[in-house]
Amino acid sequence: MQHLLACHEIVKTDFVRGENCYLYDAQGKRYTDLESGIWSAALGHNHPRINQVIHAQLEQIMHLGTRYPHALAEMTAVEVLRLVGINEGKCVFLSSGSEAVEFGVQIARRVTGRPLLLTLAESYLAAYGSAGSKRADEWLLLEWSAGAPTDAHEYLQNIPFEKIGAFIFEPGGSGSAFVKFPPKPLVQAIVERVKQAGGLLMTNEITTGMGRTGRWFGFQHYDIQPDIVALGKGLGNGYPVSAVALRQDLAENLEAGGFHYAQSHQNDPLGCAVANQVVTVLREENLIERGNSVGGTFLEQLRQLGEKHALVKEARGRGMLLGVELHPHANFSVSAAYRALLDKGYIVGYYPAGNVLRLSPALTAQAEDLTRFVECLDELLANAG
Ligand SMILES: Cc1ncc(COP(=O)(O)O)c(C=O)c1O
Repeated sequence: MQHLLACHEIVKTDFVRGENCYLYDAQGKRYTDLESGIWSAALGHNHPRINQVIHAQLEQIMHLGTRYPHALAEMTAVEVLRLVGINEGKCVFLSSGSEAVEFGVQIARRVTGRPLLLTLAESYLAAYGSAGSKRADEWLLLEWSAGAPTDAHEYLQNIPFEKIGAFIFEPGGSGSAFVKFPPKPLVQAIVERVKQAGGLLMTNEITTGMGRTGRWFGFQHYDIQPDIVALGKGLGNGYPVSAVALRQDLAENLEAGGFHYAQSHQNDPLGCAVANQVVTVLREENLIERGNSVGGTFLEQLRQLGEKHALVKEARGRGMLLGVELHPHANFSVSAAYRALLDKGYIVGYYPAGNVLRLSPALTAQAEDLTRFVECLDELLANAG
């Protein structure tokens, strides 16, 4: 890989095929992918019903100019809006999670006229743009993970809510990295205060959406209703399509104000066909319920490892978004665990700063594979001493 820019670590370069939770390398060795690519292939790699729609749509039309949206885009918008609970709203289909979040951030500022946004510290929002840099003059970052405040309202009293355009809530909290879920009373209190002061609630469902946490969307664990929702990753099951859904009045405000945003793959029929089929498959194959139940058993097994090995600080998660945090140990880091698991044929994520192994299998993962993984981790932990 001499000609690929090294933007991050490259570990293995010979995966040639994927099938459900398995990846096969050029030598035919099978790996169980417990990261679903980058938390995207929630229906498993190469889902036959997604592939079938891709093939069929390729034969029709994959891409159109922004002036010529396809009926599939409208149909998929209706579906997405209904799912996120913004029935009469509007939707735009984009290409990546970062793009969707940044788009939502820009429109929240524009419709409220308030440049300052609030988010939880450590929430990952985007790779670039304002959401990527979270500059201090544009963002207020609320610390929470060091310990849940007992009185959320008291905790929030110094925040200038009247200046805040929107609370950008990532319901994994720091889901991409630490797998820690912000407490419901705190989130509800923030939402209440932001809304009372005329601000908006946007949820970043890039990782937590499309069934990953055992419900359609992560915000549904909090009994809150967002005004803007950003979707990505699982929406395309690995195909690069993302979406932003927003309330009708916000959409009308933008449209009346001459809002303009154009990129080459906006509302492309192929991406919309994929997104539409992902929703259909999730629904028809009851995969969210399935993922929640299989994930629940998996979490229980991981917690049992915690009872057995002093090295495990905590196993936690929701649905199929799980993490195992380890205590610091001289001979056993999460990166060492990652390497050892890879050798044994398991692909996991890890986040050294949090000492966390991340597990985000497809909702279609087989319980037996997860049990075998737990046995493998058990052995590694036992050998670590
Ligand atoms: C919570 C969250 N938001 C946004 C993004 C950005 O999505 P993408 O990598 O598709 O641009 C990610 C990616 O990991 C994420 O985990």
